[in-house]
Amino acid sequence: MAILSSRIGKADLPTSPPFVKPRVMDSAPLEEEVTIPREDGLRPRAFDDYIGQSSLKQVLGIAVKAAIGRGDPLDHVLLYGPPGLGKTTMALVLAAELGVKCRITSAPSLERPRDIVGLLVNLQPRELLFVDEIHRLTRVAEELLYPAMEDQRLDLTVGKGSTARTRTLELPPFTLVGATTRAGALSSPLRDRFGLTQRLDFYCLQDLQAIVRRTADLLTVPLTNKACMEIARRCRGTPRIANRLLRRVRDFASVKTKMTVIEASIVKEALDLHQVDSSGLDESDRRLMKVIFHSYGGGPVGLETLAAALGEDPSTLESVIEPFLLQMGFLQRTQRGRIITSAGRKHLESIEVK
Ligand code: ADE
Repeated sequence: MAILSSRIGKADLPTSPPFVKPRVMDSAPLEEEVTIPREDGLRPRAFDDYIGQSSLKQVLGIAVKAAIGRGDPLDHVLLYGPPGLGKTTMALVLAAELGVKCRITSAPSLERPRDIVGLLVNLQPRELLFVDEIHRLTRVAEELLYPAMEDQRLDLTVGKGSTARTRTLELPPFTLVGATTRAGALSSPLRDRFGLTQRLDFYCLQDLQAIVRRTADLLTVPLTNKACMEIARRCRGTPRIANRLLRRVRDFASVKTKMTVIEASIVKEALDLHQVDSSGLDESDRRLMKVIFHSYGGGPVGLETLAAALGEDPSTLESVIEPFLLQMGFLQRTQRGRIITSAGRKHLESIEVK
């Protein structure tokens, strides 16, 4: 039996008898219940409606079918990759395909042991628990999760010193879906407990165009195909950004034009106004490139130095801003630091001339 791990106050525990599922406890509110994200009605809820990420869909599709066939819960899933690529959406698709509820929370709201205990004991059999930013779990929360993930068991220590007692609570079978932009920041014991670990990649233009088309149709925004493509080009390979840009284009078109369809030229005008350039770079991207180019002669410059120069957190640079610049071939990570590539220089020159 795994040694337990977490010391929690008596008030955190349900009353005896042990092994009985506790009353509903004072758990952190589920985000699912308190914040309905704006795009929620737009999210696909089935593999067939989820555009792109074909290898992810294939792997998870097989796992879901197999789990349903056996009547088992789906194995725990870790999804990683830059923000906005559809990790939460995929968790919701998984739940819908499995025919169960998805409880959504994020690691920073599981600070107190009772938060995670409350969530786990309230799960119904085979439900999904989605934990965003899972690399930010506290040590105590992680240690509570290990036996929960492995043996559907919570090991709790009540009291202190010689009066400390260990209590075990049985949990229903469940699936943890963890999401992170920083897979490398997960401890290896936690990483090892996921049966499926999948990376989400930036989307190709065709998939982004299809996503914009789908959202525009759902919102009844009359976009031409070329206009969809223009948004696809400028969304940093990221559906969440594509959908946000679409809303800005819709605002712009409704206020500034009398046209009944939105053409690519309107998209360009609207997104130029929002300082999203022709390659989809926004102000933070350009600032990073300009600092390397103008203040460090194009690089190399170390991550910490760069972060200090920009007043940013190094991990935000590394996991949020840089991945798309690397993907575009505008930036390179070398052993001696970050450098701007010749494509990056050309892009900077082209926008600085304007
Ligand atoms: N909206 C956001 N991401 C999507 C995706 N991958 N497929 C369909 N619609 C989406």
